[in-house]
Amino acid sequence: MKTIKTIQAMREVANDYHHQNQTIGFVPTMGYLHDGHLALVKEARKQNDIVVASVFVNPLQFNQSTDLNHYPRDFDRDERLLKAEAVDYIFYPNVEEMYPKELSTELSLAKRGDVLCGATRPGHFEGVLVVLTKLFNIISPHRVYFGLKDAQQVAVVDGLIEDFNFSTELVPVPTTRESDGLALSSRNVRLTEDERLEAPIIYQALQAGQSLIVNHQDWKRDDILHLINDYLQDIQGTIDYIDCLSYPGLSSDIQAEHDIIIAVAVQYQDARLIDNVILRPD
Ligand code: PAJ
Repeated sequence: MKTIKTIQAMREVANDYHHQNQTIGFVPTMGYLHDGHLALVKEARKQNDIVVASVFVNPLQFNQSTDLNHYPRDFDRDERLLKAEAVDYIFYPNVEEMYPKELSTELSLAKRGDVLCGATRPGHFEGVLVVLTKLFNIISPHRVYFGLKDAQQVAVVDGLIEDFNFSTELVPVPTTRESDGLALSSRNVRLTEDERLEAPIIYQALQAGQSLIVNHQDWKRDDILHLINDYLQDIQGTIDYIDCLSYPGLSSDIQAEHDIIIAVAVQYQDARLIDNVILRPD
């Protein structure tokens, strides 16, 4: 496994594999890896000749500088974990390398951005779109791997790839959870002991919402929202949002043939947790 820090070197390596007709699977991350990230890497390893993972804490997608400064980092550990998964290359640029000067172009969302995390974290997805556009152009991967834990990110990237004709296939990977149901997240280490004990209730609430949809044919969107709100009424954290939308369109006008997402965000003292379930009606 090799760690590459410059755009030019990464581009050259990727181009070589393209010329040899080798497929590249790409897993973008912000590091401080856990089993959720590694599930994406494992999937990429199965499906491609070459696997590239990036580790870059993208300042553009943090709307609060405190969150950026607090973001946990441990590159040596990341390197060990990725090596153990037989990753071929880590792309590990610094901020100067990725953003040497102020951007003269911006990307904005025409759709899928005004709900969920897009509504509560202004500028976040715009920053995600910029860094991914750069990474896709540098690496030109055949396949890119994203976790459904960040389901809105998957929906937004799906739009980016289609709108701008990136020749890469988006592969969504199911959420990896702790045994008590809590979705793995780099931010979980910032929960207090009490908050950590309470946090699995988020997934329990989502499952209750899911059961309501599965077991009651005449369910209404408001029933789901109320049920989950009641479920989470006494938690220590503050509910940031609860929503039930079509997926991946993220519209509140849910038609019978649409997939459905139920999503929740809870702000704890020092960590904001998000989780969701996606139902695929058969
Ligand atoms: P990061 O939060 O590091 O996540 C990297 C990838 O891991 C994302 O696709 C995310 O959905 C996935 N992931 C995180 N927790 C997961 C879990 N419990 N189960 C399955 N997958 C999980 O998402 C980002 O970084 C950034 O926005 C990025 C795409 C790298 C752009 O900067």
